[in-house]
Amino acid sequence: MADLIAEIQALEGKAAQAIAAAADAEALAQVAQEFTGKKGALTGIMKQLASLTPEQRGEVGKAANAFKAKLDELLSAKEAQLTELKFSALAETEFLDLSVTPPQFSAVGKTGDYCGHIHPITQTQRRLEQIFTSMGFSIVDGPQVEDDYHNFGALNFTDDHPARDMQDTFYTQAQGGAGPAADRTSSLPQATGHLLRTHTSTVQIRALESMKPPLRIIAPGRVFRYEEVDASHEHTFYQMEGMIVDRKVSVGNLLHLMQTLLTEVFGKQVDVRLRPGYFPFVEPGFELDMKCLVCNGRGLREDGLPASAGPGASVLRGCSVCKHSGWVEVLPCGLVHPNVLRSAGLDPAEWQGAAFGLGLNRLVMMQHGIEDIRHFMAGKLEFLRQF
Ligand code: DAH
Repeated sequence: MADLIAEIQALEGKAAQAIAAAADAEALAQVAQEFTGKKGALTGIMKQLASLTPEQRGEVGKAANAFKAKLDELLSAKEAQLTELKFSALAETEFLDLSVTPPQFSAVGKTGDYCGHIHPITQTQRRLEQIFTSMGFSIVDGPQVEDDYHNFGALNFTDDHPARDMQDTFYTQAQGGAGPAADRTSSLPQATGHLLRTHTSTVQIRALESMKPPLRIIAPGRVFRYEEVDASHEHTFYQMEGMIVDRKVSVGNLLHLMQTLLTEVFGKQVDVRLRPGYFPFVEPGFELDMKCLVCNGRGLREDGLPASAGPGASVLRGCSVCKHSGWVEVLPCGLVHPNVLRSAGLDPAEWQGAAFGLGLNRLVMMQHGIEDIRHFMAGKLEFLRQF
């Protein structure tokens, strides 16, 4: 009996060695088999128990159990060690170097390497999309080449309405040549041909045609005007239209929404004022102005003078962003005109709406103190790389 117990105790050292040498989980399972498996060393010893007295069997059994417990302990410690090794090896072999900088290209000019990024207007557009989607708005899109109906007619610009003159645009020539482009003496729209949309308000109609109220939408996008280009007017610019249609919508709802929006965008309370404004598709209609952040509402801004004029020398010039007025129109808005609701097949007695048209370019100009709208489309890296 003593021999058997000694044999069992001797197994412990061998097992410890074999376990220490096991290189992976498979080798470890093999070791377990060698000692406690059907043909294992311990099993071999236990087969000899038959010749012993019950007491002696008890003694050997105890030693066998002690060995098994020790073996389990060694196996699980080794297992944990192997798992850890496996993961640290994975960290080596499957390492992704996320710190790698994107490929750089050389900018035209003197300033050396420059890495591209998202245009400042798109940056602000995305920020606004986040704000609006967090308030339950969906983002909808519409075509840039529109028909007269969606750009004007359905928005309550009657065929001969002078408000069409405020939004002159570029027309495509109809097949056969008989479009407005062929007859610029008349401001009357013609059913033939298409136009480059003058505003994103077109999407009000497209949304009402395809979605069921109640609804809240925003429609960011590019718009075009036949424009006398200057520091605050471009032929191609960006707007974000917004509209809520529900059973009860008030000017109070609209104002709250606009105030929340501007506070979020500028990260501080912005001074605003509301003036009556005329747009055929809203009644009442408003112009929401904000205090010019480029000149701080003074209408004048300080311009640096050449170094020869001495350190810190500057001169006051009229602020071109707000045309010296201290205020910038950013947000025309109003309650959706009953005729617009009717043109989308809604009953104005049942449904009401509020809408606004955010000028993205002007907003970005305010955010960054940009003094000339023409910078956005100029494709100048010197300008773009500041944002
Ligand atoms: N679409 C108008 C424009 O581009 C702006 C506008 C005014 C949009 C009033 C609106 C609104 O939704 O309610 O001049």
